[in-house]
Amino acid sequence: MSEDDAVRATNDDAASCKRAAVQLGYWKDPYINYFMRASERKAPEINRGFYVRVRGVHSLLKQFLEITKCQGQIVNLGAGFDTTYWNLKDENLAPKSFIEVDFQGITAQKMYYIQHRKHLLDKLTADQVDVQISSTDLHAGQYHIVAADLRNVGELKKKLGECGVDFNLPTCFLTECVLVYMPPEASEALLRWIPEHFKSAFFVNYEQVNMGDRFGKVMIDNLRARGCGLPGVQYCQNLESQKQRFLSTGWTSADAINMVDVYRSLPQSDVQSFNPPPILVDLGIELFSHYCMVWACCRPPLGLDLVIYKDAPLVTDKKVKHELPL
Ligand SMILES: C[S@@+](CC[C@H](N)C(=O)[O-])C[C@H]1O[C@@H](n2cnc3c(N)ncnc32)[C@H](O)[C@@H]1O
Repeated sequence: MSEDDAVRATNDDAASCKRAAVQLGYWKDPYINYFMRASERKAPEINRGFYVRVRGVHSLLKQFLEITKCQGQIVNLGAGFDTTYWNLKDENLAPKSFIEVDFQGITAQKMYYIQHRKHLLDKLTADQVDVQISSTDLHAGQYHIVAADLRNVGELKKKLGECGVDFNLPTCFLTECVLVYMPPEASEALLRWIPEHFKSAFFVNYEQVNMGDRFGKVMIDNLRARGCGLPGVQYCQNLESQKQRFLSTGWTSADAINMVDVYRSLPQSDVQSFNPPPILVDLGIELFSHYCMVWACCRPPLGLDLVIYKDAPLVTDKKVKHELPL
């Protein structure tokens, strides 16, 4: 198995963990089961970790959609079997354009599922859109799946062009556990390219942090044992290194939050409904402290800023400072 195969396999892990947590009722996602068969139960701290991750990312995306009145674009880099587009569509929150990018093996597999699950295909054709499908790419109105290696910015640019990406529209890029698998020079080139070409861009990154401590080293060893070299781990040392990677590549502002703080800022009614025994709380906290969310902006008009108030509930509070005129 090549190192890229091992990286592609991380998508199966993410999707099966999401499916397992959804099955237990941690959150609702009627689509994940179309992309991932039922899997064995996961440890409670893994379920809760995914719950916090999904809530946190969704909260930031929702703020972006609110301030852009769904007239912006979302580009999910290393999207895997992510189902955000389908869920946003059900909430009437789909943006003007939603683009997913991954290695061709993953996009081909995802498209196979879409083509063979009538419910998914019907959803795409419901708006009378023309669905164009090749062996690796799909274009269906506002929804696009394209194959590209993110280490090759030229290839990414070409594929985004085929999706009709508009460099003048506010665009939110999302990476969830992706940049760590790229060599620093490749992720830096990618991050630098965005503010150089997009008039107004946001970035949401969910990734490992505190990789220098004992627990972090065990996480690295586990991934390396599975063939994932983690060439980008230098940026996962602490929240500061996570922010700096954006500030040093042309982004005007960056902020980062540990997932422990995200967990603690969730409405207590949510957290208590899972009712974990104290020992599991400790295990979960150790795990959450090794993941973070980072968000960055470039040239935000009117000083627009995406802010998570650390002392307020993540989802229920109003966090948007300004409205973005379109
Ligand atoms: C841990 S999975 C996460 C999948 C999805 N973002 C999620 O959260 O469910 C990482 C994904 O990034 C993709 N990926 C990593 N490096 C990539 C690269 N250089 N080009 C394209 N995709 C890449 C992998 O194929 C995989 O689907």
